[in-house]
Amino acid sequence: MKQSKYRIEIEPIGWIESPLKTRAEAPRQGQEAKVKGKIIIYPQFKRAIKGLKVGDYIWVLCWFHLASRTTLEVCPRLAQERGLTGVFCSRSPDRPNPIGLELVKILEIEENKISVEGLDALDKTPVLDIKLYFSPIDCP
Ligand SMILES: C[S@@+](CC[C@H](N)C(=O)[O-])C[C@H]1O[C@@H](n2cnc3c(N)ncnc32)[C@H](O)[C@@H]1O
Repeated sequence: MKQSKYRIEIEPIGWIESPLKTRAEAPRQGQEAKVKGKIIIYPQFKRAIKGLKVGDYIWVLCWFHLASRTTLEVCPRLAQERGLTGVFCSRSPDRPNPIGLELVKILEIEENKISVEGLDALDKTPVLDIKLYFSPIDCP
């Protein structure tokens, strides 16, 4: 089988501090339960926070470090009628590259800590990137 020649190295920009310690206790989507937590940004990336404000929504891209990377098919919880479905047609954390996409609201910014609401990522989940949610771009 053909494989990509690319190997991508990514340094996390921070990590999630959350009351969610196990997969079983996490909501399937953060907007369902409005769980509060913090994104702790490593000091060398702190300047990249500049401009973010309380009340802004941000996309948080994280690495689901406890996920299975061999899963290719799942039964999506919100579309059971579809039966076994490819993971690219689902929001399963279990997938070849377990990248999580969290839409959260900023509650407070203190130094390198961004308090947010709407998380479904577990405590200590590495954060890869943050992007401002901007409805003209994000709502097709
Ligand atoms: C269904 S996924 C949705 C994630 C994200 N909102 C998305 O759409 O990409 C959320 C689930 O991922 C699992 N999860 C959260 N953090 C994880 C981690 N660090 N490693 C593995 N699984 C994780 C939890 O079981 C949680 O309920």
